[in-house]
Amino acid sequence: MTKKMTINSIKNSKGVKPLVMITAYDALFAKLLENESDMILVGDSLNMSFAGKPDTLSATMEQMIYHTNAVCMGAKNSFVVCDMPFGTYVNKKDALKNATRVFQETPADCVKIEGGKDKAEIVKYLTTNGIAVCGHIGLLPQSVRSEGGYKVKGKTEDEKEQLIKDAKAVEKAGAFCMVIEGVKSEVATEVALSVNIPVIGIGAGVNVDGQVLVFSDMLGLFEEFTPKFVKKYMDGASLVREAVKSYSDEVQNREFPQEIHTY
Ligand code: KIV
Repeated sequence: MTKKMTINSIKNSKGVKPLVMITAYDALFAKLLENESDMILVGDSLNMSFAGKPDTLSATMEQMIYHTNAVCMGAKNSFVVCDMPFGTYVNKKDALKNATRVFQETPADCVKIEGGKDKAEIVKYLTTNGIAVCGHIGLLPQSVRSEGGYKVKGKTEDEKEQLIKDAKAVEKAGAFCMVIEGVKSEVATEVALSVNIPVIGIGAGVNVDGQVLVFSDMLGLFEEFTPKFVKKYMDGASLVREAVKSYSDEVQNREFPQEIHTY
């Protein structure tokens, strides 16, 4: 994935190839991930895995701008999505003011907003004012406190109908793609088929237009909890602990530094 994706190439990938999206929060990891991903998401999940908070709700614009700049520095050839934090898009005016900050203070390519039909007016206001928007429907992590937990969606006929309405409203409002999170697989498939823009899944089964994972989950670095949808592609936490233990042992035994590490 050497060529940087654009809004158009992302839209045109629907039905052609599954999109690969991974989160990153800093330049170091962004650089490591960029060759294998179509889009890098600076998710507000950074508030949990990077800042150690229990959920995403206390993430701020300052945090998102700082981390988005770091990611853009590390992955200069990547399409970068910046998550809008909780409480920063409660009305059209705030949404535009805060999304404009993202575009003016970082080189991010778009912002991401959680919500469906209820947020369509805000998505439309942003897109008609020059801000590219990636939607986010289904399980909304920013609603964890109001819903009393992370609740899988699409379990009833009503929820399915609502998700299809949400997807269509977000598309009509001008979003160029959307994330669908924590939705029964067969329902997510129907949602993806109901719109003409890519629907990128996380915990939404294999038959959508792409997948997104949080990098610290997929690398086995985040140990607080592991949702069912996460596949750990390596046991990063054990590897880091083993490496740090070797360093610590060698320092205490005066085995490090050796001659080759010495001036
Ligand atoms: O914040 C985040 O990392 C996200 C993903 C879970 C899609 O929104």
